[in-house]
Amino acid sequence: MPLPYQGGKQREAFEIARRILDLEGDRRLPYFEPFAGMLSVGLCLLQQSPRPARALDLNPDVTAFWQAVKDGWLPPVDVTKEDYCRLRDDKVPSAERLFASVAASYYGKLFGGYKWKDGQEVARRNCLANYRRKIAAVAALVPEVANGCYQDEDPIGMLIYADPPYAGNNFHGRTREFFQFDSDRFWATMQRWSDSNIVIVSEQIAPDGWVVMWERPVVKFGGRLFVEKLFVHIDSCIFDL
Ligand SMILES: C[S@@+](CC[C@H](N)C(=O)[O-])C[C@H]1O[C@@H](n2cnc3c(N)ncnc32)[C@H](O)[C@@H]1O
Repeated sequence: MPLPYQGGKQREAFEIARRILDLEGDRRLPYFEPFAGMLSVGLCLLQQSPRPARALDLNPDVTAFWQAVKDGWLPPVDVTKEDYCRLRDDKVPSAERLFASVAASYYGKLFGGYKWKDGQEVARRNCLANYRRKIAAVAALVPEVANGCYQDEDPIGMLIYADPPYAGNNFHGRTREFFQFDSDRFWATMQRWSDSNIVIVSEQIAPDGWVVMWERPVVKFGGRLFVEKLFVHIDSCIFDL
């Protein structure tokens, strides 16, 4: 899928999307992804099974990016170190800012350090051209992506894939305060949503009542190995349908 992203699922997106669709069976519910990021799973799922869809993210750069892609915008062909520093220091949310923050950073970490050195101009342009091609290829699939917090949502009758900041790893760029993530509150909300939606959660660990429906060891950017898991609540309405 289009871009690397901190905590992103681009490597295992196809398989996760497949598992979600298997669980859904032949109901075809509208899709909702409350932690959009680079939408790696959502775009795979919508490619395999088109349907009405929407997404949400608290980061205004993410929402500006998807809105622009939806409107036909394509990323610049180059992001120099000067561009990167200018966009990093300019706090106005924009598609260009999001693109530079992940495409030109190590491991897709939001402004996590400019990844090219002097003399790597050809590699840089090739890499950016590749991202640009991938973004153009998915543009028609991009759902409406709103800016906001999942806590303000009250979905009903939807297929929901939630990939939140993982517990203990709650720093998603910008300021710590902005993205301080309350995992207990998150799980309580997902349990409530499971009464009237099919909710599937990516996390490492879950509270009692959540069961693993899929797991696989994966090597993340930087060589870290960990086990990706998908959870579904034992009392989920899926089991009554
Ligand atoms: C792990 S990333 C999602 C990655 C995505 N699945 C992908 O493959 O690219 C989590 C996302 O949740 C967003 N986020 C954090 N807190 C949020 C909140 N309270 N409401 C909505 N989005 C939030 C972050 O900005 C980040 O983009």
